[in-house]
Amino acid sequence: MIEIIQGDITTLAVDAIVNAANSSLLGGGGVDGAIHRAAGPLLVRYCRTLEGCRTGEARISPGFELPARRVIHTVGPVWRGGNRYEAALLKACYENSFELALQNDVRSIAFPAISTGVYGYPGEPAAIIAVSAMLVYEERFEQIIACCFSAGDAALYRRVLAELREQSPVQ
Ligand code: APR
Repeated sequence: MIEIIQGDITTLAVDAIVNAANSSLLGGGGVDGAIHRAAGPLLVRYCRTLEGCRTGEARISPGFELPARRVIHTVGPVWRGGNRYEAALLKACYENSFELALQNDVRSIAFPAISTGVYGYPGEPAAIIAVSAMLVYEERFEQIIACCFSAGDAALYRRVLAELREQSPVQ
């Protein structure tokens, strides 16, 4: 089941929340900063042992003081105009996060809108990539949550989900 909510991903008591990290995995601003603040200092200490993450790839850690059991850290592409494989890399973020979740018995997972903040990815193309990936994996999870920080993003995701379901009703 795919749910679209507006809220703060650090409050969700799911098996895993996904972090829009940077390649150092040592924290930053945006959702990365919020997750590290809520998880506490053990998260960055654990992430130091992961020795970074390439764009499009994903790593998993405990959630520490978060209500979520795990954090899946993925590094989205910086938007550079759309001709630098940004779409393929963003798609890889979702797919690799889902695959890592399946390998770790994660049954409920929440995603932020990866790359659409500091990394400047345009909202609608990113939402189409995100929701398309969620539809592919929908039957393999109990709960997939798109956790949008703004009301505008939540409305965008809801419209995109409705349009994609209409195009392929079997899902
Ligand atoms: N819960 C859910 N979503 C959030 C939260 C939150 N607490 N805080 C921010 N967001 C949303 C933003 O509104 C945006 O829609 O997460 C989305 C991703 O924005 P960023 O956090 O800026 O991430 P991104 O664009 O992928 O840039 C990553 O920013 O914070 C740094 O270390 C991070 O260098 C990396 C870069």
